[in-house]
Amino acid sequence: MNLNEIRIAIDGPASSGKSTVAKIIAKDFDIIYLDTGAMYRAATYVALSNDLDDDFAQIIAILKENPISFGTSSEGQLVYVGEVDVTHAIRQNDVTNAVSKISAIPEIREYLVDAQREIASHGGIVMDGRDIGTVVLPDAELKIFLVASVEERAERRYKENLAKGIETDYEQLKFEIAERDRKDSTREVSPLKQADDAILIDTTGMSIAAVVSKIESFVKKF
Ligand code: DC
Repeated sequence: MNLNEIRIAIDGPASSGKSTVAKIIAKDFDIIYLDTGAMYRAATYVALSNDLDDDFAQIIAILKENPISFGTSSEGQLVYVGEVDVTHAIRQNDVTNAVSKISAIPEIREYLVDAQREIASHGGIVMDGRDIGTVVLPDAELKIFLVASVEERAERRYKENLAKGIETDYEQLKFEIAERDRKDSTREVSPLKQADDAILIDTTGMSIAAVVSKIESFVKKF
């Protein structure tokens, strides 16, 4: 298969390393990377910055006027809502703590899933999220489900924050990750769930390079 057409779905819980490995895979095979979590975060940013709570009709109306788009910089991917660069804003705690609520709204999911399918329609893409293999691209050529222990995910996030100079509390991070897992897995619409035909990789104790190499060995079969 021509890799220009492949669709790779990488799903898994918060901080399981999805985006880190998906970005490397996209670069190695020269295909598109789509961070669907960033789209839910952007919708949450719109809700918070306009005081909309869960008023989905208003959130969607604003997103239609100001579509979510992506750009690149030397520091990595940029995320925009209309003309506004929200790359940093969508990673702040207020958005992180509200995103499970906004992403559980069926109308918001429907709107963003349509946009995600449109972006994936030509193939040559690796997408990471929670429902890519189950809902967004149920016929993706390759589906990966990444998991890792809560302790290890909290530790990874703690070290990432430290490197960025952000003070955080490890126990608090562990609590927030477990809480987001619970909300993402128990919501009614498109809960976080491994697709029947997804390959499960437990990355606890694995290096990023080892995870990438394992996934790339599957990609090379196409
Ligand atoms: O991958 P992330 O942590 O940036 O995702 C942020 C939130 O968005 C996550 O808590 C669940 C939600 N999400 C989702 O519901 N479906 C997706 N495909 C991607 C993310």
